[in-house]
Amino acid sequence: MKLSGNTILITGGASGIGLAFAEQYLKEGNDVIVVGRREEKLAEAKEKYPQLHTRVCDLSEERERIQLYEWAIKEFPQLNVLINNAGIQQRVNLLNAANDWRYYQNELAINVEAPIHLSMLFIPHLIKQEEATIVNITSGLAIQPGIWVPIYSAAKAAMHSFTLTLRQQLENTSVEVVEILPPAVNTDLGGVGLHTFGAPLPDFIAGIFNGLKNGKSEIGYGGTEQRLTASKEEIEQGMKNAWQGFLKNNPDFL
Ligand SMILES: NC(=O)c1ccc[n+]([C@@H]2O[C@H](COP(=O)([O-])OP(=O)(O)OC[C@H]3O[C@@H](n4cnc5c(N)ncnc54)[C@H](OP(=O)(O)O)[C@@H]3O)[C@@H](O)[C@H]2O)c1
Repeated sequence: MKLSGNTILITGGASGIGLAFAEQYLKEGNDVIVVGRREEKLAEAKEKYPQLHTRVCDLSEERERIQLYEWAIKEFPQLNVLINNAGIQQRVNLLNAANDWRYYQNELAINVEAPIHLSMLFIPHLIKQEEATIVNITSGLAIQPGIWVPIYSAAKAAMHSFTLTLRQQLENTSVEVVEILPPAVNTDLGGVGLHTFGAPLPDFIAGIFNGLKNGKSEIGYGGTEQRLTASKEEIEQGMKNAWQGFLKNNPDFL
């Protein structure tokens, strides 16, 4: 994708990876709209970067996604990049899944339903643009599931699959489809303090923008780069090793 002169909508853009993307895209000379549920986080981002556009939206709600789409193309008819970044991560012990289904379903609604629905809403608009891009932020766990986050991993695998088919179906249009597969990155994903072991955000963003500059359509960082070409045996071993490491640090999980 071209890195400047775009009008970009980033879901979940008021914190973590989404905000770091927003900052970098602003620096590169783009118009950026960030979307999230928490008004105070959006206001904080806007205070730091007054040129940002913000919009409150709960992406787990179909009606709100449609309202977001209608607002976005009316206010920004030149919008040509959709970044499906918003996500949540829940640790789930399948031997003791005591919450209501709504709790688990929410993870699917935000991580799968929303990005698929938004892509489908925006495609008719994006194919009319001279150059457009849909960027899906999946995860290394799309390829090598994290056993402690089974619904999250399934959701990200679904988004990896959807991204592959989306890319093929849009092949002869002006819309490029990019997948970014982050490894663990130090953000508040899953709750404050749960990802402090991850890669520092600035290093991760620098690596990803390097991939974007080089025109890559599947971009990993660190370990997730190799996962895309790992064998079944390597994936299974990696899963087991990560699970052992998780249980060592969280002995009360099961
Ligand atoms: N950090 C990692 O280690 C890692 C690794 C692999 C993949 N990823 C992926 O990277 C993406 C960004 O995550 P992050 O690490 O930056 O975590 P984060 O800081 O928690 O950011 C997630 C963002 O999504 C927004 N969001 C969540 N639910 C939403 C909803 N229903 N409607 C609208 N916005 C919603 C949040 O804003 P509000 O709460 O205000 O709505 C927040 O800004 C996610 O898709 C995540 O799965 C992260």
